[in-house]
Amino acid sequence: MDETTSSTPSAPPVTTIARLGQHEGQTVILRGWLYNLRESGKLLFPIFRDGSGTVQGVVPKSAVSPEMFDRIKTLTQESSVIVRGKVRADKRAPGGFELDVEDLEVIHRVADDGPFPISLKEHGVDFLMEHRHLWIRTPRQAAILRIRAEIMRAAQEYFDTHGFVRTDPPILTPAACEGTSTLFPVNYFGDEAYLTQSGQLYMESTAMALGKVYSFGPTFRAEKSKTRRHLTEFWMIEPEVAYAGLDDIMVLAEEFLSHIVLRVLANRAADLKVLGRDTSKLEAIRPPFPRVSYDEAAKLLEEAFAAGKIEQKFEYGNDFGSPDETYISSQFDRPVMIHRYPADIKAFYMDPDPDNGKFALCVDVLAPEGYGEIIGGSQRISSYELLKQRIEDHGLPLAPFQWYLDLRRYGSVPHAGFGMGIERAVAWICGLDHVRETIPFARTLNRIYP
Ligand code: 4AD
Ligand code: MG
Repeated sequence: MDETTSSTPSAPPVTTIARLGQHEGQTVILRGWLYNLRESGKLLFPIFRDGSGTVQGVVPKSAVSPEMFDRIKTLTQESSVIVRGKVRADKRAPGGFELDVEDLEVIHRVADDGPFPISLKEHGVDFLMEHRHLWIRTPRQAAILRIRAEIMRAAQEYFDTHGFVRTDPPILTPAACEGTSTLFPVNYFGDEAYLTQSGQLYMESTAMALGKVYSFGPTFRAEKSKTRRHLTEFWMIEPEVAYAGLDDIMVLAEEFLSHIVLRVLANRAADLKVLGRDTSKLEAIRPPFPRVSYDEAAKLLEEAFAAGKIEQKFEYGNDFGSPDETYISSQFDRPVMIHRYPADIKAFYMDPDPDNGKFALCVDVLAPEGYGEIIGGSQRISSYELLKQRIEDHGLPLAPFQWYLDLRRYGSVPHAGFGMGIERAVAWICGLDHVRETIPFARTLNRIYP
C-alpha cells in the first residue's frame, strides 16, 4: 500500500517513510521494523524501516511515559512495530526527515536469546548469502531490489510505448539456443527437454506474426564456472523485430538503455544515494553510443598490450575476456557497441556479414566502468539453405529445429533482435561488483539455498 490512508477521520494517517515529505509537521503512523537503536543519555534514537526507506526516530525521556521509554529502550533489532510520531524536517537526516515518536506498539518482539542473525557489524559474503532471506531487509539490499524493480519496469515501459507486443516464449524447450554446453536437462515424461537459455527462437516466430515483439522472463544456463557475472538462473528481456537489420537494433539498444538509466536517475535517486553510486557516470548515458568493430577492438587491445597497459596479450579470433572488456569500455564514457565478431565464436543463427562472411552481423553492448557485456544481439539468418547448413555445421539435430526452419520457408524476411540480462544491468547501474546481489535469490554453481 503506497497511498496514505486513514481509518477514521480523526486518526493520524498511515503512511510510508518514502512519503514522509508530504506530511511535514503532521503526526503520522508508520508500520515497519526496528532497524537499529542508538542511545545517548536521556535520548533514544530508534531507526525504523518499512520497505520504502529508513527514518530515525527521536525519543526524549521527558516526552513519553517511563513505561514507553523502557519498551523502546529494550526493543530488539528487527522487532515489528507500529509507530506514531510527528514528522520533522532535518537537513542532516539521510531522507531529509526525522520522526518525534509519540507512541509505539510492538507487533512481534524478536527474542533476546534468539537475536536477528545479521547485526550491523561486518559479515562474510557466504554468511550473508546463507541468510539471504533476511539480508534483503538491510537498507543497501532493499535499495538494490527497488532499483531492480525500476529497471524492469522501465525496460517493459520502453517496449510497451514503442509499438512492441509482449509475447512470452516457453520455458520448457526441446532444443538449445545458445550452445549445448550450458543446458539444464529436464525429464519430460520420459523425454529429455531443457530449461530455456533464451526465448529468441520463439521470438523470431512471434515477430513474423506481430512485427515487433518482446519477451521478459527467466532463462537458465548451467554455467559451471564461478564468476562475478554469471548466474544459472537470470532474467532476460528480448526484443525481436521483423524487417530490421543489425544497424536498426543497435539504435534500438542505445535508445532502450538510455531510457532505463534516465528512469532510474529520475525515480530512484534516494536509493542510488544509499548505494553511494556516482550518478555523474550515469548522467552521461545518452545516444549515440560508440560503435567499434571486433577488428578495431582487437587493435585497441594490441596497442594497449604493446604500451604495457594490459597484462594479457589478446589472441585475435577469440572472444574478449573480462579484462579485455574492462579495458575497451574504459576508453568510453558510455556503453560501447562491439559489432561483427568472427562468426566461428558466435551462435549458429547469426547472419554473416555480406562484405566478409568470416564475420557475423552481431553486437555485444559493453557497459561502462568495466561492468562487461549487458546486451547480446544480432541479425538472424533469413535464408533457409544457409540456416540448415549452420545447424548441421554446429552438430545440432535438425528435427527439433524444423519449426524454426519453417520461418524461412514461409515469407522469410530480414530480422534482428537482442537480449539484455537484467542482473548485469542492475550490477552496472547500481555499481555492484557481483551479480549475486542483483536478484532476490541468486542461483549459482554452488548455491540453491535459501
Ligand atoms: O549474449 P547472450 O547469450 O544472447 C542470447 O541469449 C541471445 N539469444 C539474445 C537475443 O538475441 N535475443 O545473452 C544475452 C544477455 C547477455 O548479454 C547478458 O546480459 C545476459 O544475457 N546473460 C547472463 N546474465 C547472467 N548470468 C548468465 N549466466 C548470463 N548469460 C547471459
Ligand atoms: Mg553474449
